[in-house]
Amino acid sequence: MDTDAPRILVADDEQLIREVLADFLSMEGFHVRTAADGREAIGELSRAPYDLVLSDLKMPNMGGLELLGAIQENTPNVVTVIMTGFGTVETAIHAMKQGAYDYILKPFKMEEVVQTIRRALEQQRLKSENLRLKEALSLYKVSEAIATSLSLDQVMDTVIDAAHDEILADQVAIYLKDGEGGFYERLNSTRESESERVAPRLREVRIEALAENFPEEEKLITHDGECEAWLTQADRPSPASLMATQMRVRGEVSGYLVAVSYADGRRFTEGQRKLLSMVGNRGSAAIENAKLYENLQATFRQTIRGLASAIDKMDRYTAGHSERVANYAAMIARKLDMDEPQVEIVRQAALMHDIGKIGCVMNLNKPGKLSESEYDEFKHHPGYGKDILEPIAFLHPIIPGVHFHHERWDGHGYPLGLEAQEIPIIARIISVADTYDAMTSDRAYRRALPHEVATGEIERCCGSQFDPDIAHPFLERIEEHREELRSNPPAASSDADET
Ligand SMILES: [Fe+2]
Repeated sequence: MDTDAPRILVADDEQLIREVLADFLSMEGFHVRTAADGREAIGELSRAPYDLVLSDLKMPNMGGLELLGAIQENTPNVVTVIMTGFGTVETAIHAMKQGAYDYILKPFKMEEVVQTIRRALEQQRLKSENLRLKEALSLYKVSEAIATSLSLDQVMDTVIDAAHDEILADQVAIYLKDGEGGFYERLNSTRESESERVAPRLREVRIEALAENFPEEEKLITHDGECEAWLTQADRPSPASLMATQMRVRGEVSGYLVAVSYADGRRFTEGQRKLLSMVGNRGSAAIENAKLYENLQATFRQTIRGLASAIDKMDRYTAGHSERVANYAAMIARKLDMDEPQVEIVRQAALMHDIGKIGCVMNLNKPGKLSESEYDEFKHHPGYGKDILEPIAFLHPIIPGVHFHHERWDGHGYPLGLEAQEIPIIARIISVADTYDAMTSDRAYRRALPHEVATGEIERCCGSQFDPDIAHPFLERIEEHREELRSNPPAASSDADET
């Protein structure tokens, strides 16, 4: 017998019909089994996969309609053909409305049965091919979205969205290993389902589709450990169906992706199980990458922050300068309605604006002003800063701020003498913040100027040194800031108010 032959289950309470059909269909090359009623058929369907059920309408224990209902519910990929006598054609038509593919009138001709079965199988083949294409398409969409997400939060959101949309889960959660032998819930998202919510009550939770060879020590998440706690929380109803898939990195379990359906009687299908497992696979690699990337970024930022503060400390007069400039610059960026990621870039650039001083070998700490040659050397620091940051790809967005913070609106600045809008906005912002802080702090050659003198000077230099569209919002914002500090003084001395 050809093992790839379509598998047919014949359900009929008349033994003769079962035998005749089994013999004949076997000769036609089908793989055939028989059942004497609906209940037996259901048992057989749960034991082995079938492509088609040929069922009598009237049988003891369980008839054809009820069997059809059970097939639709549990094994919707199996196509059903109903056999019926003349008296029950109405019921057979009803069965077709319920999802049966076709009906055959008894007594039947064998050729007619075979033709109907072949048509039904062909239609089934097309349907499942279509389904596979749809699955592949969803997976492609998900993979693409995950691959283009860079931050950890973005990856998590994409994985969760994919699970919600493609799997139609009511609730999706990601658990990641905490590195101390436990798990933590990294993200848990519920969406309102159109279907009715089940009231919280105790009942057996069906845990479907756990990965094969689930290691004993990992069971806590889906059996009685963390996940049980999650499932039995008072504000969450008991799930009707639950799937969990392992997320693995280099062969190790790094977490779990859990999808839950609350709609009464709704079970996740095999296709949804596969999809969850694929989303979990794609997601775990992306989550790991994002984690590594975020760690790397944090390490770089810390190092550079350390360098910036070391440079400030080379000159006792500029201690804390970079931090304060970063605060003022972020204030301006927010005042200009920049979005938070942009504000963060402005802040980072301001923090590192003088990083290039590391390349200037003269003594910045000497009393009095720099000599002309020293000043020429000093003017190289924005370029040195750019050279320092250039090899680090993710710091590229802050380079314009570092490189051009000494350019002037009127084009008389350095290093390139850029003018007006040619100067990147981030550098125009840092220029104002830097000058305000320099004026309001003590310097080797003079005492700190009062706030009013500094703001007057910025006002005076609008349109020459500064972009008026940056300087004016700053002047407004700094007054608001001082007002805020006056009405709500910080416990410790503030870095951002140094007048
Ligand atoms: Fe500078």
